Amino acid sequence: MSQKNQWDSSVAFIFAMIGAAVGLGNIWRFSYVLYSNGGGSFFIPYLIAIAVMGIPFLILEYSVGFSFKESFSTIMRKINPKLEYVAWMLVLFVFVVTIYYMVILSWDLVYLASSFTFSWGTDAAHYFVNNVGGSSNLSNASFLLVPTTIGVLVLWVILWFIAHRNVDKGIGRVSKILIPALFVIMGFIIVYALSLPGANIGIGTLLTPDWSKLLDVNIWLAAFAQIIFSLSMGQAIALTYASYLPENSKLINNVFIVVASNSLFEVCTAFGVFSILGYMSFTNGTPMVQLITEGTGLIFVVFPMIFNIMGPIGRILAPLLFLAILFAGVTSALGFLEPMLNTTSDKLGWSRKKTATVLTIIGCAFSLLLTSGISSYLVGIIDTFVNEFGILFMIAVQCIIFAWIYGIENFLEVLNGKSVINVGRTWKFILKYMLPCVLILMWVAGILKLFSTAKPFEIIIDLIIIVMVTVFAYVLTKIKPANG
Ligand code: ALA
Repeated sequence: MSQKNQWDSSVAFIFAMIGAAVGLGNIWRFSYVLYSNGGGSFFIPYLIAIAVMGIPFLILEYSVGFSFKESFSTIMRKINPKLEYVAWMLVLFVFVVTIYYMVILSWDLVYLASSFTFSWGTDAAHYFVNNVGGSSNLSNASFLLVPTTIGVLVLWVILWFIAHRNVDKGIGRVSKILIPALFVIMGFIIVYALSLPGANIGIGTLLTPDWSKLLDVNIWLAAFAQIIFSLSMGQAIALTYASYLPENSKLINNVFIVVASNSLFEVCTAFGVFSILGYMSFTNGTPMVQLITEGTGLIFVVFPMIFNIMGPIGRILAPLLFLAILFAGVTSALGFLEPMLNTTSDKLGWSRKKTATVLTIIGCAFSLLLTSGISSYLVGIIDTFVNEFGILFMIAVQCIIFAWIYGIENFLEVLNGKSVINVGRTWKFILKYMLPCVLILMWVAGILKLFSTAKPFEIIIDLIIIVMVTVFAYVLTKIKPANG
């Protein structure tokens, strides 16, 4: 086994945690979620979701990782040998996220390269479909989108290069550079965006409250889903990172720093995004509703169109934006890879370098399968299924295991007396009673929606994922642990 993994300071841990949290979700998902779920009034369910789920669950994850200082599968095996299977299911689902997340990052890398010459031309939608993300036309599955394929190879090499080192020298050091750089770049873009003519139109559209929406249960589910995705919550990332913390770490303080940074980043980014949309609306008269879109459409189609009309400043903003997305994405991808890396290395007794190499080869091979002419369609199917079916259910299961089976009282000692805030009865109530109910409700709502709208091809992909995760989790559980 390699030398024991440990952060060289809390600062490295905090930057790595912010890196895992701040990602594509903050840049392209949040602004749309905010706008489409009631604008200004959405801040009420959003803040409540942070208070009753994001913060309490992250505190739980930190305390589990910190108390056991073991990999996720060993922790579960120590609680009850039958639970190891649950650990492998979760880390495998999160490994699947790593696989498709690298493909999205590859689209970004292609756009970063294109942003120096504006090679997306005047029709960015056409460029995206033909060169980068493809479409849902299944007959296009027979060819590869070459720029995306090359991007995937490059990005997996970069990920391997960082991840194979011990965490303080790899993830810790890289996060300490990329996260401040990300905040500076986005800070510049946001301040510039706010000064654009028409920014007030965009922000007005974003924030106009619709109080009646607060009575709609879907708005509340959207707020909880955003927090899970945005904080990378319940995916064994925080737990694994916290297992590398030195003694006497101020766990609760760290949770507050990470949650506050993540929310500040996404709220400010939403202001920047809508200011830029407002500028476009003001400049060429396109109504705001025609510009507002989610995810790939926003970043890879609408934004390039706006950069096209911005003149010289667009030539600077475009590479900066795609670079910021790359920094945010790489640090999140490192977070997604870590639970599988740590747990596999621990279970099989392999060095970190050997494990990272094997996982990179496997992960890269699967990512390459997602670079065909239906790339974005496949990524969308896998993203929805893994998050709404797999990970969400696993978070509810973790609540039950840690709060009920292991006993939430056992974590109070490592948490209290070190940070500014202590936890007690309310925290225990939330994790034992409230969160399992909320999470199961979300899971049922998500499953009903997923299977009532999925097409046969999509169900086949979902079944392939579930069969593979189930079988691999079984095999990995059955292997005799190298550490006894
Ligand atoms: N939490 C990361 C994001 O927002 C994964 O993209």
